Amino acid sequence: MSGVLPAWTTDEGTARATTLFEQTFGAAPLGVWAAPGRVNLIGEHTDYNAGLCLPIALEHRTFVAVSPRADRLVRLVSAQEQSTVREVRLGDVAPGTVEGWPAYVVGVAWALEQAGHSVVGFDVAVDSCVPYGAGLSSSAALESAVAVALDDLAGLGLGGDDAGRAALAAACVRAENEIAGAPTGGMDQSTSLRATTGNAVLLDFTPGLDPVDSARHVPFDLADAGLALLVVDTRAPHALVDGQYAARRDACERAARTLGVTSLREIADMLGRSESPADELPAVLAALDDDVRPRARHVVTEIGRVGTFVGLLDAGDVTEVGPVMDASHASLREDYEVSCPELDLAVTAAREAGALGARMTGGGFGGSAIALVRATDIAAVQDAVLAAFADAGYTPPDLLVAVPAAPAGRAG
Ligand code: GLA
Repeated sequence: MSGVLPAWTTDEGTARATTLFEQTFGAAPLGVWAAPGRVNLIGEHTDYNAGLCLPIALEHRTFVAVSPRADRLVRLVSAQEQSTVREVRLGDVAPGTVEGWPAYVVGVAWALEQAGHSVVGFDVAVDSCVPYGAGLSSSAALESAVAVALDDLAGLGLGGDDAGRAALAAACVRAENEIAGAPTGGMDQSTSLRATTGNAVLLDFTPGLDPVDSARHVPFDLADAGLALLVVDTRAPHALVDGQYAARRDACERAARTLGVTSLREIADMLGRSESPADELPAVLAALDDDVRPRARHVVTEIGRVGTFVGLLDAGDVTEVGPVMDASHASLREDYEVSCPELDLAVTAAREAGALGARMTGGGFGGSAIALVRATDIAAVQDAVLAAFADAGYTPPDLLVAVPAAPAGRAG
């Protein structure tokens, strides 16, 4: 890990969460668990369209120090608001009842109970080096850390294999959708729980797919190829609960209904079998209203780009993925309209300074961009992005270099 925003080591994160727990609750925690944020390499806004995406887990993790309680109370403290201890009774958790960040914690306990598991109350102290609001899945990291903690405390045994981790990810998605009220897909939670060190994970969101088929680990060793993945947190405001994300999701569902398919994935698969998908696309989408057509075009072409990107990785051609990243960004900016001036500037400045490809990552409307750069160009690209932001009068961005890291698990 190099870069301006270093990740904490396991020892450091464990010590921070443990100290906060001891200061708040007056005893040592039973244990500490941690889960990573993520960056998505390609496949944006495809997860809720039964599509494909290709994220990696970050070295940046959220740490939770936890002890079980004999009752049904959850007491929560976060390093970000140390003076406040929140209290929520598990029996009171229901859609719309929990405000703010505790929803991501108690929502997971609620979802595990909904799935038939028995969960007790607990005390929890949270600390994190996943940049907050950066589009790097700080909320999924919190949910996933709590999920593996509760899994261990209740002896559910789900964290021990990928099928169990897929079940934990499903609980985290329910927590996010139903208790936190953010209508996201499953990419972030699946990455935090199921990605592996050194690999990107190709996630397939076809409903009902067996876990064996819904995640494939694809080696992503950039250092070997003399490359690096630079992440630029633009620090432009970013929120998924503000209606734009839901509006995109709704447009995709309307498009699928009009086209008579269950999801836009079906259209992507159909075109994937065609000799000349780009030529056929306009006719296939012709029935859609003008405001919906570009949204569908993004999703369908983006699913195709995931296939192209993975094909290049499988063939050992990682140096060739840059144009695929560039095309993804253009599609997100023009067709899906989820970029913003800061993201566009990060992408343009990185490319002009020699990046092989660059795109926004995550939900958009702010958040982070990624750039694939030669390892020897990291400093030059970072400097160029910082200079471009300074020239534009934007808040200075935060920078980090991402490598595919480990999934959620026990830290201490
Ligand atoms: C957010 C959501 C994900 C996914 C991305 C866009 O990160 O949480 O489910 O939809 O946006 O790809």
